[in-house]
Amino acid sequence: MSYNGAVLARARERLAKRREDNAAEQQRRTRAVYARIPRVEEIDLALRRQMAELCALTLSRDAGAAERVEALRAENLALQRERAQLLRDAGLPANWLDDIYSCEKCRDTGFIGSELCSCLRREYKLCLTRELSGLLRDGKESFASFRLDLYSAEPDPALGGMSPRETMDIVFKTCLAYARNFSPRSPNLLFRGGTGLGKTFLSACIAREAADRGYSVAYESAPAALGEFESARFSRDADAAAAASARVREYLECDLMILDDLGTEMSTGFTVAALYQLVNTRLNAGRPSIISTNLSDAEIERRYGAQTASRLAGEYELLSFAGTDIRRLRKEAR
Ligand SMILES: Nc1ncnc2c1ncn2[C@@H]1O[C@H](COP(=O)(O)OP(=O)(O)OP(=O)(O)O)[C@@H](O)[C@H]1O
Ligand SMILES: [Mg+2]
Ligand SMILES: [Zn+2]
Repeated sequence: MSYNGAVLARARERLAKRREDNAAEQQRRTRAVYARIPRVEEIDLALRRQMAELCALTLSRDAGAAERVEALRAENLALQRERAQLLRDAGLPANWLDDIYSCEKCRDTGFIGSELCSCLRREYKLCLTRELSGLLRDGKESFASFRLDLYSAEPDPALGGMSPRETMDIVFKTCLAYARNFSPRSPNLLFRGGTGLGKTFLSACIAREAADRGYSVAYESAPAALGEFESARFSRDADAAAAASARVREYLECDLMILDDLGTEMSTGFTVAALYQLVNTRLNAGRPSIISTNLSDAEIERRYGAQTASRLAGEYELLSFAGTDIRRLRKEAR
């Protein structure tokens, strides 16, 4: 299990927010009780004075110090008891004004020693899911809702005599097995095919499964992802540049990167360099990626150059999608 730094930082921010909210709630309770039972405020002041005196006494070499400490301890206990009784008389629990923790185990720090507390891990998963929610939409796209009957059963010479349905059956099973067995050492996949054939659909299914199993998954369309590289580098707004850098780090370091619609971005020298950096960095680190595109090998080489093309051809398993545009099929059926 590896954690994505940027997502983890967001999860920790949410815990910090929780600490703030709890502190504010504790102050609100204290003000309300002081207003209703002024004696409680007097006692709290006295307790604080005692604390200060106790600190001073432990440093003093005065002969009577030990005796005074004993007396203070007795006073302290009496005041505590009186305070608890006042709260109970008002119908409140005795610990009503104590520090509030949403998670008693880690006192809202998110850590138990150097281990992540279960509350922080839960928050991390929520952040990951939110991240993917743009892709996963209302959750309709799952392996269970993948329909094979939308692909023609007619044998096609262009597919070596296989039908689109047979071809897509293999693609589907390959994706299913990939998702079920996903690990941060899984191979890379290149989804290739015309528009509306299910590339985004199946990559969403894989993303969901991997994220459900706790892996960090980043999904982005090529225009948006390569745009982040550009903002990280050239944005004049320091906050925007920092946010873009954090996204870029996620793309480079997450367990699974899904780059959708490669080839739909506006091509510039910068997008070409950014794609190379993304592909090459992840290959060198042995981290898997899934790229989907409408482009042929020749078009990839023309657009992104031989270095990127050779890495995609040599290091990615190709899955060719077949069939007729499902968006159009659906529209005609309506
Ligand atoms: N096998 C399938 N079963 C059910 N719905 C599907 C299937 N394949 C695709 N769809 C639906 O058809 C539409 C187009 O699919 P998708 O977005 O995955 O295509 P794509 O291959 O990514 O196309 P593009 O290259 O234009 O991005 C989506 O609404 C998707 O949910
Ligand atoms: Mg798509
Ligand atoms: Zn906790």
